[in-house]
Formats: sequence, C-alpha cells, structure tokens
Amino acid sequence: MWLRIFIFTVLFNAVNAELVQLLAIWRHGDRAPGSLPYSKDQNGVTAWPRGWDQLTNIGIDQTYELGTFLRQRYVEGSQLFGPNFDKSKVFIQASDSERALESAQSVATALFPPIGNRVWNSNLSWQPVPIHSNGIDRQDTLLKPTSYDCPKYEKIKDDDQKMLASRFDSQFGDLFKFLTEMTGDSISGINADGLNDIQREIIHGLPQPNWVSGRVGNVSILPTIMDIKRQMRLEEFNSDEKGKFRGGYLLNNWLSYLEALRDGKKTFSAVLYSSHDGTLNALQSAMGMQNGELVPYAAAILLEVSRSSINDDLKVQVFYRNTTQQPPYLMEIPGCSNPCPINQFLNVYEQMRIRNLTEMNELCGNDKTTSTALNLSIFTIFSLFLAYYSC
Ligand SMILES: *[C@@H]1O[C@H](CO)[C@@H](O)[C@H](O)[C@H]1NC(C)=O
Ligand SMILES: *[C@@H]1O[C@H](CO)[C@@H](O)[C@H](O)[C@H]1NC(C)=O
Ligand SMILES: *[C@@H]1O[C@H](CO)[C@@H](O)[C@H](O)[C@H]1NC(C)=O
Ligand SMILES: *[C@@H]1O[C@H](CO)[C@@H](O)[C@H](O)[C@H]1NC(C)=O
Ligand SMILES: *[C@@H]1O[C@H](CO)[C@@H](O)[C@H](O)[C@H]1NC(C)=O
Repeated sequence: MWLRIFIFTVLFNAVNAELVQLLAIWRHGDRAPGSLPYSKDQNGVTAWPRGWDQLTNIGIDQTYELGTFLRQRYVEGSQLFGPNFDKSKVFIQASDSERALESAQSVATALFPPIGNRVWNSNLSWQPVPIHSNGIDRQDTLLKPTSYDCPKYEKIKDDDQKMLASRFDSQFGDLFKFLTEMTGDSISGINADGLNDIQREIIHGLPQPNWVSGRVGNVSILPTIMDIKRQMRLEEFNSDEKGKFRGGYLLNNWLSYLEALRDGKKTFSAVLYSSHDGTLNALQSAMGMQNGELVPYAAAILLEVSRSSINDDLKVQVFYRNTTQQPPYLMEIPGCSNPCPINQFLNVYEQMRIRNLTEMNELCGNDKTTSTALNLSIFTIFSLFLAYYSC
C-alpha cells in the first residue's frame, strides 16, 4: 500500500509541482557510550571496536540506509540533484564530532556512488565527497547548539531539570537506592538518565547482570531508566523560549536558504546536515514540531520546497523520518496550511530566528561586546588620567 501511495505522490507532484529545494538534517547512527556506563559495569572499552563515543557498524548501516533512501527519493524519484555529485547543487556539513562526520560519509557513500566518468577504480563503488565542518576547536552554534555557552538558557533549563529530578527522587527513591548499590555510583533523579547507556550495550548484545531486566517493587528497572532519560532530555526543549535559544540559529540558517530561493539568488538544491539528537530536538522545538519522543539514530528532518508548474508559487512541506518501516511523517506547520506558501512559512517563524552570533550572545547574556566596550572605556579613562598627570 505504501508503495502505491508513494507512486501516487510522485506522479501527483510531477504533474502539479516540481521539487526545487531540500534542507535536511539527520542524527548520527548508533554509537558507543561516552565512557563506562557505571563503575561496576563489566563491559569495558574493548566491547567497542572503534572506542568510546564512536559510530558502530550498526550506525554505519543505519546511515548508509538513510543515504539509500535519500538517493531513491531525490535522485531517482524527483531528480532534485545528481546522480553525480555537483558542488554547486549539494552542500554537506557535519558537526565536528567523529560520529557525525562518519555518518555524513556513510550517507554520502550511498547517495553518490561513482558512475560513468566518475568511476576511478572498477572494484570500488565509492568516491570521496566533500564534507564541511566548523572545525574541532570551536563551538558549533549551527550543528551542536546544545554545547553552546548560553547562561540565560542554562539557568532556565537547570531549574526545570532540578524540579523534574526532585519529582523522580520522591517517585523512585527505592529504585535509586537499589541502583546506587548495583552500579557503585551515587544515583539520584538528576543523573539516573545517564544509565540509558545500558540500552546501548543491549543493542550490541553485551552481557548484562540480572538486575538490569528486573524490578524494584512494582517499578521495572530499564524501562523506567529510559523514560527518565526521555523526560530529562525533552525538558531541555519543552517551550518556545528554550526552542529559540537552542534551535533559533539553525532555523534562521534554513530560512535564509528559503529566502535565497524565493528571491531568485544562487543557492543549493540540497543542504544536508549531519548532527545530533539534541540538534534535531532543538529544531523541532523551534518549529513547534515536537512529538514527545527521543530522536532515534539516523532519524532525519526533511524540509522540501516545491514550485507549482501552474503559477510558479513556492510551497514548503516538512517531513520527519524517524523509522524505516514507513514513509516519512508529514508534519503539521503551526498556523499554516500543508503545503505552506513560502512567505507564510517565513512569517510563522519570524520571531524564532536568531540571525547572527551578536544576537545569539545578547540573548544568552554572553554580552562580550558590552564588556569589551566597558573594559575599553575604563582603559581610556585611565590613560587620559595618566596623560593628564604626566604632562
Ligand atoms: C580489481 O580486482 C582485480 C582482481 O582482484 C584485480 O586484478 C584488478 O587489478 C583490480 N582493479 C583495480 C583497478 O584495482
Ligand atoms: C506502585 O506502587 C506504589 C506504592 O507501592 C503505588 O503508589 C503505585 O501506584 C504503583 N504503581 C503502579 C504502576 O502500579
Ligand atoms: C515518529 O514521529 C511521529 C510523528 O511525530 C510520531 O507519531 C511517532 O510516535 C514517532 N515514532 C518514533 C518511533 O519516534
Ligand atoms: C545581527 O542581527 C541583528 C538583527 O537582525 C541586526 O540588527 C544586526 O545588524 C546583525 N549584526 C551583524 C553583525 O550582522
Ligand atoms: C574585561 O576585563 C576583565 C578584567 O580584567 C576580564 O576578566 C574580561 O575577560 C575582560 N572582557 C573582555 C571582553 O575583554
């Protein structure tokens, strides 16, 4: 049935509208934990062939599958770009973490296998494709906004998470006492979410002690840990204000590409970003498209712009591909029809934009400009004072 709907959609669009732009962002694939999940854990780093924090074979497979999907939808389906990589049409950028960079490579490998005059080794269905990044030594406002220093946001988030944590403490006191004993770490409402790394081990079939699959009273241990993880993570993004702090800069970046397209400026057919769950959560929050779930590995948000063949109007649709089991979900755009006329789309999100780093730092209370100016004026006054007395 899905195939029939897919074919219908393709035909329908081919007749009435042409796909002209794709803005996409995905989460990296399955990964290793960042460190030993808990002190008494018997599974060391040797359980993870590529090391802590790194993409795994499962993760490579998931992102390769995503690349295959993108190829079917945009190269073979709508012929938005390709099949040969063309740098004036496609731009790929990853956050500067190894797993995001490698995920981008994996997607690109499936998306752009060499054909025709791009074949350079008949035994290898692979060619290099450029992946841009912000650099290893800098904060990445665009693709890892959750790590950007933002005191005003952090205050709000920390207060909210502390309140949530104390609710967990009163609800799951016995569980945390038990987990403290079993893990060798002091577990409470504020850090219990970190034990979700156990789930990463289970995905890889690593041996588990019996208690992991057990209960404390009527509370089943692992599902409760995973739900605490979900609630703590979403607490970072669960208001328009938080969404703007974390997602407003990336949203602005996307809206700028839409404006360039609308204004007939030279722009890319496809902008592809490789990033993190928090980056997708932040963007979903800024766009009013949260669904209360964690972002699965290799999940993708796809913003598509089509041009009507009747009147040239540009319209926007946003899809969320959080499963391989069915076509991407078409997301509702707050206060707009679906598809949404491009200018209405821009209006909907006008207030959520963070247009540049100056605005970002002002919003965050980083206020570098003010303190530099203040330091300068103090210096000036002091110099004038010296000059006056040395004459
Ligand atoms: C491809 O593989 C075959 C068999 O191993 C080998 O003889 C040949 O030299 C390879 N070709 C290239 C271009 O590496
Ligand atoms: C679990 O037990 C506690 C008290 O023992 C009770 O308040 C709570 O409703 C129970 N929860 C479920 C899901 O049965
Ligand atoms: C995927 O996203 C849709 C739309 O937001 C949601 O209804 C569904 O629960 C999500 N599924 C998963 C596995 O996250
Ligand atoms: C940053 O954006 C604000 C708001 O649009 C604008 O007023 C300001 O001129 C911009 N600053 C820079 C340095 O581009
Ligand atoms: C201003 O001066 C203070 C004290 O000397 C220093 O800590 C701060 O980093 C300076 N700020 C800037 C933006 O240079």
